[in-house]
Amino acid sequence: MRAETHRIALTAALACLGALASVLAMRSSHAAPEPEPEPAAADPTTPQAIAFPQGYTRWTHIKSGLIPAGHPAFASYGGLHHIYANQTALAGYGKGEFADGSVLAYDLFETRLTADGSIDQGPRRHVDVMVKDARRYAATGGWGYAEFAAGQRSDRLSQAQRGGCAACHAARKDQGYVFSELQG
Ligand code: HEC
Repeated sequence: MRAETHRIALTAALACLGALASVLAMRSSHAAPEPEPEPAAADPTTPQAIAFPQGYTRWTHIKSGLIPAGHPAFASYGGLHHIYANQTALAGYGKGEFADGSVLAYDLFETRLTADGSIDQGPRRHVDVMVKDARRYAATGGWGYAEFAAGQRSDRLSQAQRGGCAACHAARKDQGYVFSELQG
C-alpha cells in the first residue's frame, strides 16, 4: 500500500516536471528563434543582392553542358557548366512553376586539354545564381539574379546586368523562366 502511494506521488511529480520542461522549451524557442534556414537569403546592404549559396555543389545536379570556342557566348560563358537545384527548385522542374525559396546555380569552369587528348574540368570561372521570391523580385519575373566570380562571395552584378539576365530568361516564361530541364 505504501509502495502504491509512492508510485502515484512519483508519477505526479514526473508529470509536473514534464509540463515544466515543455513550458521552458516553448519559452526558450520564443526567446531564441531559429536562424533563417534559407541558403541564399537576401543581402540587406543592397536591396537586390543575393548571398552566396553555400553548399550548392551538394544539391541535386540537373545537367551539365559545354560551350565550345567559336560559340557566340564563348567570351562570357565558354567552358563546362553544371546546373544545381535546391530541394524547392527541384520540385519546380516539370511543373514549370518554382515556389519562393527555389535556388538554382550555374557553375562554370574552364576546360583543359590533357596530354592524352581528353578534356578535363579546369579552374572555376564564375557561379550564376537565381533565387525565387515573387514579391522581392517582382520586376524580374519573381527571380533575383546574381553572379559570383571564382572564389568571391559577393554578387558582382550591376542592376543593368541583372536586367540582362532577366531579359534572356524571359524567353522561358512558360517554364518558370528556367532553361534547363531534368535529364532522365
Ligand atoms: C542570352 C541568354 C542568357 C542570358 C543573358 C543569361 N542566361 Fe542564364 N541561362 C541561359 C541558358 C540557355 C541556360 C541553360 C543552360 C543549359 O541548359 O545548359 C541558362 C541557365 C541559367 C541558370 C540555371 C537555371 C536555368 O535556367 O537552367 C542560372 C542560375 C542562370 N542561367 C543564371 C543567369 C544569370 C545570373 C545571368 C546574368 C548574369 C544569366 N543567367 C544570363 C541563357 C541566358
